[in-house]
Amino acid sequence: MEQTLVLVKPDGVQRGLIGDIIQRLERRGLKLAGAKLIQVSDKLARSHYAIHEGKPFYEGLIKYITSSPVMAMVWEGPSAISAVRQTMGSTDPLKAAPGTIRHDFALSISRNLTHASDSPENAASEISLWFTPEEIVNWQLCTFEWLFGEN
Ligand code: CMP
Repeated sequence: MEQTLVLVKPDGVQRGLIGDIIQRLERRGLKLAGAKLIQVSDKLARSHYAIHEGKPFYEGLIKYITSSPVMAMVWEGPSAISAVRQTMGSTDPLKAAPGTIRHDFALSISRNLTHASDSPENAASEISLWFTPEEIVNWQLCTFEWLFGEN
């Protein structure tokens, strides 16, 4: 079973889209394993986005992610990393497929609502950056067989 980090970024929180984003992930069949609203520190922002340091949009990205609260979550399920990224759509909302969150709710790459881990390695390091082990809940989804049962 895979776990992945999902952030509803400040634009998603301010625009009242936390519920819509959670609903889409729940309805897809993914399981919420951890969640908290955080005012992101400059240190956490720079650690999380270290890979983008030096890019033209980096300082703006740090300003944006620390500008207002972020809803940080851990989602779990079979192939959760690729499933969540598929539900989010392309990083640039103008290139995201219809029906994805970024297509349906956004228009700008600088205000693209969400972040989702892009690989098992990054998911593991991002989850440990944002959550302590005690903040992640191990529970059974009672609909599991209805979602993933094999014939
Ligand atoms: P995210 O998935 O959080 O990962 C890095 C973020 O950088 C990305 O979403 C966007 O918010 C932002 N980003 C990526 N490319 C650009 C760009 N060309 N201009 C502005 N912001 C960008």
